[in-house]
Amino acid sequence: MSSTRFLTGITTTGTPHLGNFVGSIRPAVAASHRPGVESFYFLADYHALIKCEDPQRIQRSTLEIAASWLAAGLNPEQVTFYRQSDIPEIPELTWLLTCVTGKGLLNRAHAYKAAQDKNAAVGREQDDGVTAGLFMYPVLMGADILMFKANKVPVGRDQIQHIEMARDMASSFNHLYGEHFVLPEAVVDDNVATLPGLDGRKMSKSYDNTIPLFSSRAQLQKLIGGLLTDSRLPGEPKEVEGSALFQIYQAFATEAETAALRQAYADGIAWGDAKKLLLERVDQVIAPMRAEYETLIADPARMERTLLAGAERARALATPFIRELRHAVGLRSLVQVASAAPTKAAKVAKPAFKQYRDTEGQFYFKLLAADGRLLLQSTGFAAPKEAGQTIARLQQQGEAALADVAAQLAPVEGITVQDVAAALQALRADD
Ligand code: TRP
Repeated sequence: MSSTRFLTGITTTGTPHLGNFVGSIRPAVAASHRPGVESFYFLADYHALIKCEDPQRIQRSTLEIAASWLAAGLNPEQVTFYRQSDIPEIPELTWLLTCVTGKGLLNRAHAYKAAQDKNAAVGREQDDGVTAGLFMYPVLMGADILMFKANKVPVGRDQIQHIEMARDMASSFNHLYGEHFVLPEAVVDDNVATLPGLDGRKMSKSYDNTIPLFSSRAQLQKLIGGLLTDSRLPGEPKEVEGSALFQIYQAFATEAETAALRQAYADGIAWGDAKKLLLERVDQVIAPMRAEYETLIADPARMERTLLAGAERARALATPFIRELRHAVGLRSLVQVASAAPTKAAKVAKPAFKQYRDTEGQFYFKLLAADGRLLLQSTGFAAPKEAGQTIARLQQQGEAALADVAAQLAPVEGITVQDVAAALQALRADD
């Protein structure tokens, strides 16, 4: 059975929050249990360097994210779970892709353009504070994806452009060096909720409005207590539309429970009581995972071993693949014989007729093979039209015309009728 390969990366710059859980961890763990699916999940710590210059934070975030995914039920025996920086083939592939990626393509990346727009808005030089790392971000991401021949890449909407760029890079490379890469597709799940944060805007590190996934119960209670609500009093009917509290509850509750809360809103439940319901519902989901999380966090050596074991599995694929790619582009041992791997030149080159005139005023033609060898050489014609007509006969009738035009052909050393016939055949097949 051929399975579909899913791959996704998580940038290691923060602490997972409820929004990450609902939007990415939970659906990914569920998908990893589906039959016919092969999953690759990795900690994108090279990507983290682009956004974060705090070494301790990167290390801590790597541990926290890894522990969160495992606590949420990811089984590292069943999926390939690794840390990007344990795979040296990824930066190597980044360079091979860099060399086939148009700079103009990268100029159009949303993240890069946003950085430039921000500078423009405050009158700064457009690349002010923009690192080459930010500019190259899509290429590194392309390497992550193409290295493992992923078919599907589950991402948020903001990442779709990056997957399209990875496809572009794969196509360019395949076109130049033969079919090596699988073209990936973005998968955006419109059913997963984007969770609102404490202030009602999208829950996001950058808004500082998150509820950490593994807060203690007391911390959770405090944060939920501070969740933005309107000023309606107990007894007054409340709107579910636009209520952050309701949306978070819905992401953790069953349909029946959600319907019950909707009714309670209409009946004028007090905000304090609604917050208690939310706390209980969220904690019911989180509590069992929290215990596992604490155990994992307390044993970084075990986490390290798990990641290294994942890297070993990932490299079992990456090492031979990068060897193949190095060979394809010509990074080869000097004692290897040049291989016949298809290159652009070989693929697009065809046999060709050439017409020319010599100094005596006579007209000639010759037929060259795709690799440039001389296959046919004509004798002289008085007029270019005669040469052209002879070529036309050969083009139209192929091998069958050879005997008829033999009188106009000079012998060519080392060329057989079969060579000529094959070239004429190739020309006709192309029409
Ligand atoms: N850029 C992704 C994000 O910010 C993280 C990421 C890095 C990624 N490499 C990837 C996602 C490869 C999918 C596939 O969310």
